[in-house]
Amino acid sequence: MKLSIIGTGYVGLTTGTCFAEVGHEVTCVDNNEEKVRTLLDGKIPIYEPGLAELVKKNVAAGRLKFTTSTPEGVQDGEVIFIAVPTPPQPDGSVDLSYIEKVAREIAEALTPDLGYRVIVDKSTVPVKTGHKVAETVRRYAEPGVDFGVVSNPEFLREGCAVQDLLEPDRIVFGANDERAVTLMNRIYEPFVAPVLVTDMESAELIKHAANSFLALKISYINAVARICEQSGADIEKVAEGIGMDHRIGRSFLNAGLGYGGSCFPKDIKAFIAISESLGYPFELLKQVEEVNETQRELFLGKIRDKLWVLQDKKIALWGLTFKQNTDDVRESVAMKLAGQMLEEGAEVVAWDPQGIGTARKFGNLSGKITYADDMYSCLDGAEALVIGTEWPEFANADLAEVAKRLRTPLVFDGRNLLDPHTASAKGLEYYSVGRPAVGVTDSAAAAV
Ligand SMILES: NC(=O)c1ccc[n+]([C@@H]2O[C@H](COP(=O)([O-])OP(=O)(O)OC[C@H]3O[C@@H](n4cnc5c(N)ncnc54)[C@H](O)[C@@H]3O)[C@@H](O)[C@H]2O)c1
Repeated sequence: MKLSIIGTGYVGLTTGTCFAEVGHEVTCVDNNEEKVRTLLDGKIPIYEPGLAELVKKNVAAGRLKFTTSTPEGVQDGEVIFIAVPTPPQPDGSVDLSYIEKVAREIAEALTPDLGYRVIVDKSTVPVKTGHKVAETVRRYAEPGVDFGVVSNPEFLREGCAVQDLLEPDRIVFGANDERAVTLMNRIYEPFVAPVLVTDMESAELIKHAANSFLALKISYINAVARICEQSGADIEKVAEGIGMDHRIGRSFLNAGLGYGGSCFPKDIKAFIAISESLGYPFELLKQVEEVNETQRELFLGKIRDKLWVLQDKKIALWGLTFKQNTDDVRESVAMKLAGQMLEEGAEVVAWDPQGIGTARKFGNLSGKITYADDMYSCLDGAEALVIGTEWPEFANADLAEVAKRLRTPLVFDGRNLLDPHTASAKGLEYYSVGRPAVGVTDSAAAAV
């Protein structure tokens, strides 16, 4: 089928590429000229494992192309996906101006001779946005254009987006138009996954409700981690015991610094704002946010307790991205932690396997963080190592080397990546989340 994607970012580029990979002909549109030029030059503007190879392969096969022209996208695609940003406004509600703009641009490019077109919202949007998109297109398009609107939320995870798109857990779309449902079923025919077809409102709600539930799991385990710290229990064992219950499951029960990234923080805020506007103040989700925000502060408290004053202290930070296997630093907790330590006068020297380029470009702290050349030189002469992101490289680090390079062998692990007993055996004083500290030289701190 001929498909177009408006917005060629993390979602648009990976979705478009995977649609091409299963045999569709895809036009990816982006109004960022630099991004499109990069893609036309055969380079990939983001880091996503496996994506570069697939883009190259499908461009060469003539199934994938890039343009800055929305009218070209509308001409090319019988189904047009919208994958533009939906950032938060200061009050937490969603800024829908990108969606509205694209809806207008599509409307202005639609003509009756194109025949039936489907406009699919893949961006994460508040319930009822689909109706607004339909209304906008009707208002700005010339009379006689024939179109349907569908909500098709995206559940990919950055870092394994290609796999998530090619082998999804589920495909959800919602439409109030049978012709649109038929076309959507054809698009997803090559994918082996359960398909749930709903009305438009339910599809829109599923995305916000799903992300909020995952965030709730994270805040829940972080709240339990606080009880572990006060009682001497080990959160890893507790999480394992909880997660063995199939009704609960082990995933998203990892205690740590809390959730960040371009989706969870804004989607939880959005769901709170949406619920409030519909007359239900979602207090449970406000608590989820509260636990998440204070989690970072509690962790910083451990660093302050040990280092006393951060002013002029060199601190090594492993991790800048919001999670492993991505270069994305948007709303990254590690970056926020770096910002707070810098504010207190610390010198932060950071290393990240993929995030240094994006941190320099988009991190707002570029002039303030010092970026190391590699993982181990980052540690040289530092008073402590702070682990902010769950990269596997950090979990598999040579801890004897860590102990040797640090000025004082202190490690604050915000992602519970290291085994406490191994860390202590290698001479490290080790603090993590929801587990007793080990190797502590000062007995007063051992209770932390
Ligand atoms: N990143 C994720 O993991 C993820 C997962 C699921 C859903 N989502 C949702 O998908 C949407 C897109 O997220 P993203 O991470 O891909 O964002 P992104 O910022 O990486 O990409 C959005 C792209 O849209 C382009 N754009 C903006 N206005 C445009 C216009 N008028 N015409 C053409 N292009 C335009 C931007 O230049 C950018 O390249 C958001 O609603 C997000 O919540 C994201």
